[in-house]
Amino acid sequence: MAIATSPDLSDIDLTDLETFVDRTPHDWFKRLRDDAPCFWNEEAGGRGFWSVTRYEDILALQKQPLVFSAGVGGTSLDDLTPEQVEARMSLLDMDPPRHTRLRALVNRGFTPKAVKVYEDRIRALIRSILVETMPEREFDFTERVSIELPMQILSDIMGTPLEDRHTLVNLGDRLLGNTEPEFVGDLVKDQSDLSQYAHLPFSSPAALEMFDYALGLADLNVTILINSELDGDTLSDHEFKLFFLLLITAGNETTRHTMSHGINALLSNRDQIDRLVANPELCGSAAEEIIRWATAVHHFRRTATQDVELHGQQIKEGDKVVLWFTSANRDERFFDNPMQFDVGRTPNKHMAFGLGGPHYCLGSHLARLEIKVWLEELLPYLPDLHLNGEVARMRSNFFNGIKRIPVRYDGSR
Ligand code: HEM
Repeated sequence: MAIATSPDLSDIDLTDLETFVDRTPHDWFKRLRDDAPCFWNEEAGGRGFWSVTRYEDILALQKQPLVFSAGVGGTSLDDLTPEQVEARMSLLDMDPPRHTRLRALVNRGFTPKAVKVYEDRIRALIRSILVETMPEREFDFTERVSIELPMQILSDIMGTPLEDRHTLVNLGDRLLGNTEPEFVGDLVKDQSDLSQYAHLPFSSPAALEMFDYALGLADLNVTILINSELDGDTLSDHEFKLFFLLLITAGNETTRHTMSHGINALLSNRDQIDRLVANPELCGSAAEEIIRWATAVHHFRRTATQDVELHGQQIKEGDKVVLWFTSANRDERFFDNPMQFDVGRTPNKHMAFGLGGPHYCLGSHLARLEIKVWLEELLPYLPDLHLNGEVARMRSNFFNGIKRIPVRYDGSR
């Protein structure tokens, strides 16, 4: 029997995107959590960064948003000038109190009560998607199911025309998949090639097309964002287009990839399908486990605003500090059997939506609802659904993306 060996620290490079094409490097993260929980990672063409990988450490850092700032250098690994940070600053990259104002402005559209009204719509949509798709027998689950549901719901919520959804999905792919050749062609091969677009969100030229689209909508005055208002305060045009871009990308791609990871996990763990079929009331805990298992966003970056010591390492003011949610969600110090996919897992206080800080995912209630209803409607098909080929992963250390997941349906529903 082959015995898995622990990787050498000197072999670990979290900027090596080819590794992320192959797998999420859980072996690397375990080694880091165990032996180098605050780890310096060199970066070709960049300044290098500290990787923080333990659950409790990330939580502690998140609780100090002014010491580990999102606003000073942005939330991506890019090395940006203050002007570039300001030009691309969305809600995600702001510190309190600026963040607090904007978050209050948009919060009310995303409370549990506010999103509950979409439940029937989500159910009807996923039902019709499944009824239409299953008779095809062999199909790409990502293309036919995971891409469709979140974007159609977002179109409803934001008031964008339904027929534009593939345009928006495509722009989102190019923005978040800015290191994936299948999405951006030869334009970008590496993070360092992106510097000419550093003033744009995700250092991507696709942001300009998304801005134009958003401002076109502003003329129509149809989106909930434009209608966001608190005590007479409204979004400026610049805030509006950045927030629009954030919502389209954060609301669509995350949920999509979570569904694709979810179907992969279920079809690779058929005992969990049997358990769910026998106990459909587990769909709520199963949805939460799928969100933990997928951890669609691997990391966000912060910048230290003062010198800090962590696990004997001297973090200097101005250093980049990366919070690896992916690693926190498999931290054996916090979760029992974290490498096991367990649809009945409780408690399950995972970090897939962030945790402990002001940036906790605005869309978490919507995402939870979508995944739960999706699973409830998918359940009757699951016993006859099978993996049917290689899963294709995105080339990214930022998004845990799945490009394709071929499946086969043998049932008669
Ligand atoms: C499974 C799906 C989702 C995952 C895994 C996810 C993950 C995350 C994460 C990790 C953060 C940052 C947390 C932090 O820095 O502490 C975040 C923030 C955010 N998410 Fe989500 N998200 C999901 C779905 C959604 C949806 C459906 C929407 C909107 C429709 C959304 C909108 C946002 C926004 C606007 C922020 C920024 C919040 C702020 O900075 O105050 N997300 N999300």
